[in-house]
Amino acid sequence: MALTYISVSFLIVSLLSIFFTLTSVRADLINDVCSKTQKPAICLSALKGDPRSKNANLEGLATISIDISLKNMQSGRDLVNSLRKQATDPKLKTRYHSCLENYNDSIDDLKELPPFLKSKDYLGLNVHASAALNGPTTCDDNFSSSPAEAPQLKAASDKLVELIEIILVISILLRG
Ligand SMILES: *[C@@H]1O[C@H](CO)[C@@H](O)[C@H](O)[C@H]1NC(C)=O
Ligand SMILES: *[C@@H]1O[C@H](CO)[C@@H](O)[C@H](O)[C@H]1NC(C)=O
Repeated sequence: MALTYISVSFLIVSLLSIFFTLTSVRADLINDVCSKTQKPAICLSALKGDPRSKNANLEGLATISIDISLKNMQSGRDLVNSLRKQATDPKLKTRYHSCLENYNDSIDDLKELPPFLKSKDYLGLNVHASAALNGPTTCDDNFSSSPAEAPQLKAASDKLVELIEIILVISILLRG
């Protein structure tokens, strides 16, 4: 009886330690990815904020970061569109119209990413994710002279650059 009790305890302890090892490996994977980005805090909050990331491998984290980038790019586009509608200065209106095209292009770039991931074309994934950076950065560049870009759009753009960087880091890790 005593032996059985000890065996069962041993089994439970073993299972628990395997569980915690696996859990910490997952946590390490997210930490490992995020430590390679410019703003690890944004990366950590983005990846850990998604319930799917708990059991995700590197490919899974790539899918999650593509989804998050796309959602943010779409809300960025919506923001540009509402700024364009509110703008009365014709120069500002024209700039926001350019930005709308830029963000539209980036949405298309991000939508093209999943097939590259699926076919394990990690270089293609990297190249097309880099292209998606152009929307927000080209838009920012058009505001290098006044009138100034709306601060909330600049903030959205900066966040997008950080989110897309997660895809870039993962694509490099996947290439090995
Ligand atoms: C934005 O920048 C692009 C590229 O430099 C330029 O072709 C375009 O005319 C600019 N648009 C506005 C509205 O300034
Ligand atoms: C951006 O995309 C939306 C939705 O596809 C479309 O309605 C809009 O005309 C596009 N705008 C520009 C400036 O390309």
